[in-house]
Amino acid sequence: MTAKSMEELVSLCKRRGFIFQNSDIYGGLQGLYDYGPLGVELKNNLKAAWWRSMVYERDDVEGLDASILTHQKVLEHSGHEATFTDPMVDCRACKARWRADHITGGKCPGCESEDLTEPRDFNLMFKTAVGPVDDGSSFAYLRPETAQAIFTNFKNVVDATARKTPFGIAQMGKAFRNEITPRNFIFRVREFEQMELEFFVDPGSDEEWHKQWVQNRVDWWVAQGISADRLELLYVPEQELAHYSKATVDVMYQFPHGLEELEGIANRTDFDLGSHTKNQADLNLTARVEPNADSNTRLAVQNLEAKSWVVPYVIEPSAGVDRGVLAILNEAYKVETLENGNERTVLSFKPHLAPIKVAVIPLKRNHEGIVNKAKEIKQSLQSLGLGRILYENTGNIGKAYRRHDEVGTPICITVDFQTVEEDNTVTLRDRDTMQQTRMPVEDLAEHVAGFFR
Ligand code: GAP
Repeated sequence: MTAKSMEELVSLCKRRGFIFQNSDIYGGLQGLYDYGPLGVELKNNLKAAWWRSMVYERDDVEGLDASILTHQKVLEHSGHEATFTDPMVDCRACKARWRADHITGGKCPGCESEDLTEPRDFNLMFKTAVGPVDDGSSFAYLRPETAQAIFTNFKNVVDATARKTPFGIAQMGKAFRNEITPRNFIFRVREFEQMELEFFVDPGSDEEWHKQWVQNRVDWWVAQGISADRLELLYVPEQELAHYSKATVDVMYQFPHGLEELEGIANRTDFDLGSHTKNQADLNLTARVEPNADSNTRLAVQNLEAKSWVVPYVIEPSAGVDRGVLAILNEAYKVETLENGNERTVLSFKPHLAPIKVAVIPLKRNHEGIVNKAKEIKQSLQSLGLGRILYENTGNIGKAYRRHDEVGTPICITVDFQTVEEDNTVTLRDRDTMQQTRMPVEDLAEHVAGFFR
């Protein structure tokens, strides 16, 4: 089961502190959202899962964390200045601006007027002044993708690590696009995060690597709790490919508003490294390959110093963090009818993604022995390094369980009179089955660590 509508998710996200409209108290700034106390945990957990699978669990990927502000030349030579545009249409009646492909039947989607301008290209990159004088002569772009800094740091990473193809460089971080019509909550926004891998391979082996990465990425999303039934692959038609791509496969997800792109996996060929090389006379963005590599790179190998160095091809799995968060919230969302006829809302996150791992709840909020024991358990579980363990002293167990179901806390631990007066055992309540079991306090750490392993 998933959410019935985007509104259900938006409402839960605000009520429980996952996601808020940015600058809400001033009426909001369109296309920008802020992650609240639980949202930041969920997002960080998703990013950590990606980093683990891309960097720690492989032996052929290095990490990078580059600046957001980007030199104009980088985005000129990457092709973004010339081609990173959307055709847009203005409505002369209500003055709204729309993406041309969002207009149906020749009418303004806002006011239905047919008095529209012809489509005009609109560059999606944000610019900002660098230095104290804002006279237009010194500016930088806010990066529209994290990828370019991987290409511009390619030589630095190869020199520092002596990597040979095939190998990758992974990066997670903010990207900015001045979307004409941001919409569908955090699906299409102006400031978002990407998790991008640029995987450098020998020319000729790129198509095989592309296939492997598509499968790898689908499997990863399923491991995050996304149902395979709601995923589809879209082989992007040639005429719709980005300027750098030879082939792109989009991983599409059935979001509450429809089937849309969650991640794109592109074969960027040697477009970017080749372009930065061509435009910098003394720079060779090349990597060492096995001598028998089949080279059909656009930059002739014989121009380079040694024949075993080529400009590698790049396979790029590029996922949106915010779209991932939205898909995971949607998948986890359930409303269940209980035996007594009441309903409960549950977010059944995979344990590694849950914003709060364990809530420790004293049965009596003013009972010193119970409260102290609950705090002690919180501290000892927190030291396991699993993520957030919450000590929650609201004094109403039933309400606490409902609240933790709604935010997806897998385990609630209740400390009661029996704990402190009889046998040092506590109650563990499972989010999904609602079953309660008693367990000695001394067994908790091993049990909880095993549950999240
Ligand atoms: N480096 C390649 C690249 O940026 P893209 O398909 O434009 O490719 C990759 O973006 C991913 O970034 C998308 O699959 C999507 O998940 C996310 N994304 C792109 N634009 C977005 C936006 N305006 N709001 C939220 N996420 C976005």
